[in-house]
Amino acid sequence: MNESFKGDLILNEPIIHIKNLTFTYAGLEKPSIKNINFNAYKGEFIVLTGPSGCGKTTLCRCLNGLIPNFYSGEMKGEVYVCGLNTKEHSTSELAKHVGFVFQNPENQLFSLTIERDVAFGLENLGLPKKEIKERVEWALKVVGITHLREKAPYELSGGQQQKAAIASILSMKPEIIVLDEPTSFLDPKSALEILKVIQNLNKQFGITVILVEHRLDFVAQFANRIVIMNDGEIALDGEPSKVLTEEAYLLGVGIPKVTLLFHQLKQENFKFNKTPVTIEEAAIELRRLLK
Ligand SMILES: Nc1ncnc2c1ncn2[C@@H]1O[C@H](COP(=O)(O)OP(=O)(O)OP(=O)(O)O)[C@@H](O)[C@H]1O
Ligand SMILES: [Mg+2]
Repeated sequence: MNESFKGDLILNEPIIHIKNLTFTYAGLEKPSIKNINFNAYKGEFIVLTGPSGCGKTTLCRCLNGLIPNFYSGEMKGEVYVCGLNTKEHSTSELAKHVGFVFQNPENQLFSLTIERDVAFGLENLGLPKKEIKERVEWALKVVGITHLREKAPYELSGGQQQKAAIASILSMKPEIIVLDEPTSFLDPKSALEILKVIQNLNKQFGITVILVEHRLDFVAQFANRIVIMNDGEIALDGEPSKVLTEEAYLLGVGIPKVTLLFHQLKQENFKFNKTPVTIEEAAIELRRLLK
């Protein structure tokens, strides 16, 4: 991990620690998330999924302090990110540690040029000019959009805008990045490019990733862990090949087709070492079986 990154956390100490979390938006009677107990560890790539309305976005808002600092309602339980209790720290303080990427990048880009957008958060932190310049250069380069620095947000494609949004939070050097359906407006090729950028942030810089996504066919390959929510609660949580079972299917989660095929073969008494979630893993199992 880049030395300039913060986070001298003790190994095995969770970077996200959620204890008995229940949140009810003001004006609602029923909590939107309830009894959430969840730990995430540094360097994890977690895909958060579940049926529409199950509380994924609400849980994300708890991770960057928008709940309880911005959305009113009743919050029970505790959320710690990088050791900070979200009730005791402002969203701007938490933004140094947790970056948030929205579904629609237009919500995140508002300056005249991409370069200015990437610098915006850093100027708010009051960092020296030289450091701002270095961080902007670095973030644009890591995300692969240095050539777009002078462009206005409206001149970019959806995929380029989403990369710019990622660069603008990356420049803050967060330990955690939370992305709420960041590719749902993009064509498959641009979506894959964004996921590769996210994977690189995770692998190269050890940034912990929480990615909300419905299309598991598409993202399961990147995750070390999948968390499935249902009706405000965490229903399943574990490594992809263990979580993507019939139980997940019944919850309405889109299981990768290759995984479904292997579940079917298992019922016909074929024996596998591991249930594949990607074509590559399936190829390994099939080669072993056909030998
Ligand atoms: N700002 C808000 N004020 C009041 N209720 C809200 C607010 N945001 C979400 N809710 C409610 O909380 C519940 C969970 O919504 P949330 O947006 O967290 O679900 P989600 O899993 O992200 O859904 P989707 O997959 O459609 O994005 C829903 O019943 C929703 O109507
Ligand atoms: Mg949502």
